Amino acid sequence: MKHIISPTDLSVSELSELLDLSEEIILNPKKFADVCRGKKLATLFYEPSTRTRLSFEAAMLNLGGNILGFSSADSSSAAKGESVADTIRVISSYADICAIRHPKEGAPYVASTYSTIPVINAGDGGHNHPTQTFTDLLTIKNLKGRLNNLTVGFCGDLKFGRTVHSLINALARYENINLVLISPEELRVPAYIREEVLKTNNIPYTEVRDLEAAMPSLDILYMTRVQKERFFNEEDYIRLKDIYILDDKKMTFAKKDMLVLHPLPRVNEIATEVDDDPRAVYFKQAEFGVYVRMALIMKLLEVL
Ligand code: CP
Repeated sequence: MKHIISPTDLSVSELSELLDLSEEIILNPKKFADVCRGKKLATLFYEPSTRTRLSFEAAMLNLGGNILGFSSADSSSAAKGESVADTIRVISSYADICAIRHPKEGAPYVASTYSTIPVINAGDGGHNHPTQTFTDLLTIKNLKGRLNNLTVGFCGDLKFGRTVHSLINALARYENINLVLISPEELRVPAYIREEVLKTNNIPYTEVRDLEAAMPSLDILYMTRVQKERFFNEEDYIRLKDIYILDDKKMTFAKKDMLVLHPLPRVNEIATEVDDDPRAVYFKQAEFGVYVRMALIMKLLEVL
């Protein structure tokens, strides 16, 4: 039995198989309409979500399976003080697989150590979000045609953005990846990622503050929201929240085939006028999240 806690819990070749399967689903979704008949997915969400929870649920329904779960800690017995360990012991007898989102870093890992069913980390605090990373990789592979030889810019809240941390970890395993990390000093990528991922793997990267100046070199621009819920101090959030706003004018500095990704939800960091630019693929990216989660559920339940 395999759990997915970190994006590197799948080897590069397993990831390649997952993305190939996702693309097969895109081309022929009906082929997989019944493969999870009689199986149940539990979604245990202790933090708000739209895309991750509903795309997991849509994925299982698309595979002919069933879903159960809760969408907030308040509507579960966590509100009465139940531990994640006890919850997962119980859920293991109710479902065949579960996706768990939790504000505390490491909570899905703890759950996996008590679980008798596969546990998927659906986002843990400011740490990791592996299924978002699989979605991002599918988007890049499908729309750009490759996962190597890319200059990828990450812009915004690189400190608290778990999707950024996970995607950097995953990209570090591909050939000829250059990173441009665009943030103010206060929202830099954490030191452990710079040291343990980027320097250890000899990934070339630069840290800059100016988005406009960085645009011409990028193949992918990964925009992120400033993560209000992770700030200790509201004044800091208000000062930093609109530091980057991608608009049509800034897009004129980008390559004609640069792609703009964003894990969503968006607040102000991409002006809605950019949505009509063919290079803006964040809504397509959210759609791809369903296919990659269908593929992941099938792989973990070994139903193929
Ligand atoms: N991208 C993402 O994790 O979105 P949700 O918070 O809506 O699940």
